[in-house]
Amino acid sequence: MVAQEKDRTVVADEALGYPIIVAPGVVGCMNEFLLSRSYRDVVVLCDANPAVRTIAQRLVRRLRPQARLLAFALGERRKRLSTLEVVLDGLTTVGAERTTLLIGVGGGVASDLFGFAAATYMRGTAYAHVATSLVAMVDAAIGGKTGVDLAGGKNLAGAFRDPVAVFCDLDALQTLPYRHLREGLAEIVKAAIIEGGDLFEGLETLAAHPFYRWPWESIVVDAIRIKAAIVRDDRLEAGDRELLNLGHTFAHAFERAGGYRMSHGAAVAVGLRAAGMLALRLGRFSEEEHLRVLALLALLRLPMHAALDVDATLAAMGADKKVRKGRLRFVLPRAIGDVEHGIVARRATVRNVLERVRLRPGAAG
Ligand code: GLY
Repeated sequence: MVAQEKDRTVVADEALGYPIIVAPGVVGCMNEFLLSRSYRDVVVLCDANPAVRTIAQRLVRRLRPQARLLAFALGERRKRLSTLEVVLDGLTTVGAERTTLLIGVGGGVASDLFGFAAATYMRGTAYAHVATSLVAMVDAAIGGKTGVDLAGGKNLAGAFRDPVAVFCDLDALQTLPYRHLREGLAEIVKAAIIEGGDLFEGLETLAAHPFYRWPWESIVVDAIRIKAAIVRDDRLEAGDRELLNLGHTFAHAFERAGGYRMSHGAAVAVGLRAAGMLALRLGRFSEEEHLRVLALLALLRLPMHAALDVDATLAAMGADKKVRKGRLRFVLPRAIGDVEHGIVARRATVRNVLERVRLRPGAAG
């Protein structure tokens, strides 16, 4: 599943059928990849945020074959059909064809949205993603989920469509605002709760050290390996892939009820706490393990409360893709290293958890 090659680590090539390349700076890897394929035409789509645009411009200058660049204002609140239309129109304007390779550059929103554009443009064009945020590297860009939010809920329109390759640019982590890097850790904590063992213990140890001393390559590779192993066995989320939604039923509802002002990483951090509390209340998780997860979240200085409207959040949960016959279903920890999915909970119990994670005015976050 993990192969070390020259200056990079290649993950999941055989498991998923496409390589996930983790390296500091990815232009060289990208050119080698393009040489090994026969794409004659490349269009790079990037988030217009200055740090990401700089990475995309550098890529475009050095890519062979020469690529054209289109930049779009993104952000959690723009992951909508209206933005998708702007991207698709941009592709027609530059004359992208069905055989054009589209390369998306950016974080989680870019990966979901540009991936969806590639899945739909001319009924499907080849797509590669250059992940520039931690959330994209360890979650969003891996596994072929693409999509946008609808007024009715998060990620409600989309397609499963595998990329031809994913490049995780470790250098980009240095350009991330500190807060984004920290919040991206929530997805890694999620992977660590699913896997348990060394990754969880490793994070407990690393939490005491400044980020510049963290072995980012091995952490990113570990989280990708965990996700890829689950996705390999359940590409379309008919079963165990739901495990990757640990904390996300809460997180997506926080995001939607809050008008997508909360970052996904922050929402996942609070969602992990809420999932642990719910599992505890249902008698499916021990207090000791729950406190160990909370201690890790606290050591990583991840948020554990959200400014939320409980009724609106409960209503938003009703639009979760895991709801069946109107019943809320959750992914919950049974132990660190043992997570279960499809757990039904009563609304009153969920409400109680939401009351506990709600940030009260004047209270510390
Ligand atoms: N983000 C969860 C998944 O890809 O299944």
